Amino acid sequence: MTEKNVEISGVKFKNPLIVGSATPTWDSTRMKRCIEGGASGAIAKSLFGNSAAIGRKYPRPRFKLFDYREYPGYPDNLPGSFTLRSLEECSSFNYADYMNDINKAKDMVGSDGIIIASLSGATKEEWIEMCEMVNQTKADWVELNNSCPFAADMGVKIGAGAVDLTKEFVHACSRVLKKPFSVKITPQTSDSVSLAKMVEEEGASAINLSARLSGIMLDIDTAAPIGWESIGGYGGPYLLGYGLKTTFQVAKAVKIPIIGGLGVWKWQDVIKYIMVGASIVQTVTAVMLRGFNVTGKWMKNIEQWMDAKGYKSINDIKGIALENIKKTSEVERDFKGIKFSVDTDLCSKCGVCLKSCMYEAISLTSAGAVINDNLCDRCGMCSEVCPQRAVRMYRNT
Ligand SMILES: Cc1cc2nc3c(=O)[nH]c(=O)nc-3n(C[C@H](O)[C@H](O)[C@H](O)COP(=O)(O)O)c2cc1C
Repeated sequence: MTEKNVEISGVKFKNPLIVGSATPTWDSTRMKRCIEGGASGAIAKSLFGNSAAIGRKYPRPRFKLFDYREYPGYPDNLPGSFTLRSLEECSSFNYADYMNDINKAKDMVGSDGIIIASLSGATKEEWIEMCEMVNQTKADWVELNNSCPFAADMGVKIGAGAVDLTKEFVHACSRVLKKPFSVKITPQTSDSVSLAKMVEEEGASAINLSARLSGIMLDIDTAAPIGWESIGGYGGPYLLGYGLKTTFQVAKAVKIPIIGGLGVWKWQDVIKYIMVGASIVQTVTAVMLRGFNVTGKWMKNIEQWMDAKGYKSINDIKGIALENIKKTSEVERDFKGIKFSVDTDLCSKCGVCLKSCMYEAISLTSAGAVINDNLCDRCGMCSEVCPQRAVRMYRNT
């Protein structure tokens, strides 16, 4: 029997998987569904300050999926890499309705789940006003969200456009808040580590890594963005590697717990985030496309995997990958003895490897592709592109 509980600042999460702030948490009814689906907590859709109230109304439609339905075998088979573009800035609630809905959510889920309010002020005054209001609610936890990928494009100092204000607002909020709080930072910064340290120094209980990027998808016939006329949120499972890297870097630099999660699409991704140091993992896109029960299904898979591996608790896997990730300068660069060859029984003579060999080391013979060892750079690209998996690497000792 594995121990799945995670406790942070006295708040007990029944498992390490929560639903992040977004459409699946837009109101109390949806947050209850997140908890019933198997998540241990839900971060409510962010409340923006009144000066950014324009973000409470969205264009319709507001979601666009790229490289999704085109996947072979869709909908039974889903791609492990696609783009979800969206324009949905903040909760459509005003301050009072938001606070009432947080109370309603907590009343609905009781001790079954953790309800997290999410705030984004555009001025110090707004941050403080919202913190004072949220103190009066039944929220278990508060997230200070300074991660919106496109709020700055609305002309307000929120998210990716307000990184420079992080210290100031976290400092101000930490003096007002009477609840544990996390700070959500943008991935659109060159230095997540310094930001995370700053957040830690200002007394945050945890750091959330992170929101998505902003981007444009363009239609070449109209020369205009697809869906609506501006930039939008831009994410999907392809961001997993970026999120894991940031979590790894921050985990090495701070002691406060990390809520990791960017590009989580499979149960294995949850484990990967924990292995690079996350205490809690959030998911959004997967819930939006696979439904509210996806978290429960994943937790069953995770439990089975932990049992099979002999892991007794989440702590047993937390951070275990950290020591396996070297500095780039420490990577082994001696490739002596490495060779590549083609298994001609498997080779279909399609010629894909020839096009990808920048060293002109491959030729096609009647028996199949042949690699010239004298020209081969050992870069490995032929092995990666071969549709038949006919290229083998081996080491001459
Ligand atoms: C449609 C949509 C709306 C979102 N709205 C918010 C929001 O209001 N507040 C927030 O902190 N993050 C918001 N996010 C970001 C998510 O909370 C999460 O950080 C991000 O989607 C990465 O997780 P994922 O890769 O599992 O989707 C939103 C994401 C999506 C897709």
